[in-house]
Amino acid sequence: MDQHPLLLPLLDKALERRKHLEPADIEDAARSAGLPAALAWETANFYPRYQARGVRWLLVDEPVLRSRNFDELLSALKEAAVAAGVAAGTVYSYGLEAVGPALVVEDGPERRVYAPVDLEGIRKLADGSEPGTLAELMPRGLARTGGWLLDSPGKLPDLSGAGGLIADVDSAGLRGLGGALFPSGRKLAAVQAQESDVKYVVVNGDESEPGNFKDRWLMEHNPRLVWAGAALAARAVGAKEIIFYVRGEYTAALARVEAARAELEASGYFEDLHTRTFRGGGLYICGEESALLESIEGRRAEPRLKPPYPAEAGLFGRPTLVSNVETLAHMALISLRGADSYREYSPKLFSISGDVRRPGVYELPLGTPLQEALETAGASDTRAVLMGGAAGTFLRFPENASLPLDYDAPRALGDSIGPGALMVFDSSRDLWAAAESVTAFFAHESCGRCFPCSLGTPHLHQLVLRWRQGEAQPELMRQLGETLEKGSLCGLGQAAPWAVRSLIDRFEEVAR
Ligand SMILES: Cc1cc2nc3c(=O)[nH]c(=O)nc-3n(C[C@H](O)[C@H](O)[C@H](O)COP(=O)(O)O)c2cc1C
Ligand code: SF4
Repeated sequence: MDQHPLLLPLLDKALERRKHLEPADIEDAARSAGLPAALAWETANFYPRYQARGVRWLLVDEPVLRSRNFDELLSALKEAAVAAGVAAGTVYSYGLEAVGPALVVEDGPERRVYAPVDLEGIRKLADGSEPGTLAELMPRGLARTGGWLLDSPGKLPDLSGAGGLIADVDSAGLRGLGGALFPSGRKLAAVQAQESDVKYVVVNGDESEPGNFKDRWLMEHNPRLVWAGAALAARAVGAKEIIFYVRGEYTAALARVEAARAELEASGYFEDLHTRTFRGGGLYICGEESALLESIEGRRAEPRLKPPYPAEAGLFGRPTLVSNVETLAHMALISLRGADSYREYSPKLFSISGDVRRPGVYELPLGTPLQEALETAGASDTRAVLMGGAAGTFLRFPENASLPLDYDAPRALGDSIGPGALMVFDSSRDLWAAAESVTAFFAHESCGRCFPCSLGTPHLHQLVLRWRQGEAQPELMRQLGETLEKGSLCGLGQAAPWAVRSLIDRFEEVAR
């Protein structure tokens, strides 16, 4: 690691002392991190938790809730907040789609999260009581199936097996489960091939995309498996240091990941590897691999131009493997079980929410037909599935009942399992309300670095709002979608129009 302490943890320490940052805190942190004060100011102004002031009541906005009683809950919340003299609003996805609706009570940089919350809960909040069950930790029971990833492996893989990891991961056919599905063996080999005395492994635990919560579950309930995968990967590529980047809002996950790190460190598991956990910046864009590296380095989380890719020039310019939490857990399993038996079963985690009787995290064999996945979760009268997450597409159901949930079959149709979210909507739901949530999310999370995205995502949201008011402009939406896809610098802007486009193209009955 760079010789200086890192800026964000220094700012967080100052926040712990007095719940807000004073100018002197920012300048002290800049000095300790060896960064210009102007850069530290710019950074502190970019991440929401460094500007949080006072009490705010925030309803968690996600596509499934928007298609239900979101408007009713939000207006009750706003009314109660006016009476109580506090601010109210919305915030995007906390990985609680399986237990929501969720409510965040923010007091400066501190947050308490409740789920599920109903109108009665909002009345209680107004009376000064707790509005529902505290949901800092995902209930363990949300893992609806047992399995290789969801059950503790007991014994962890021996790091001496790392020599064969790249070949095994290749032959197991593992792909990156952060959503891009890039072959993991090729990525490991690319980092290994770099000549550098310093290399890093960065675990991407930023998971902020509505509909996805499987990484949160792994970080809270099976973090040892992820650390083991990261340690094997570090050995395989020749890295000496692992940084585990956990989404800023996932406080329980951060604590569990750190506890697992300390336990493995004390047991000598990491041998001479250096390990640390890092609290993420608290924005969706922090999950984009190069933006994530920028935030570790103490800057605004803005994506870098690629190439060079992180495998060549990543953290502090050094070759870096950035891998998703679940991908690394799979690497540990491949080492434990062997590539052949792994390939035979090929487990994959799916975050299933919406109109199902048993929402939660499911471990299913890759290639499970969509209908079987939905039946396992107790879906009925399904009309549509938003697959992948907010950066996903709406599929018609039952027309796609036999679609295998694997890496390639959805792609042939222009879809993707992405990180593995399945948001289920029955025939009573308003899919345009769900699209309103998706487009609001992208408009809110655009980092502002490139103008096709910073101007195009709010415009797309406005077009969805107008559509809901009866003014349908499908051609304009298509054109704007094309501009976003072709002109945006990173995957956020590129993926922003996908859900809307799939609605227009596939749901003639709602696309008037
Ligand atoms: C806007 C945006 C957000 C992303 N968020 C995440 C995330 O939270 N977690 C993740 O693993 N990958 C995320 N990704 C993908 C990463 O850039 C990267 O592909 C991934 O971490 C690589 O790991 P993998 O090969 O194991 O999938 C995001 C990409 C974009 C464009
Ligand atoms: S596409 Fe959006 S999120 Fe990505 S760099 Fe451009 S403005 Fe930022």
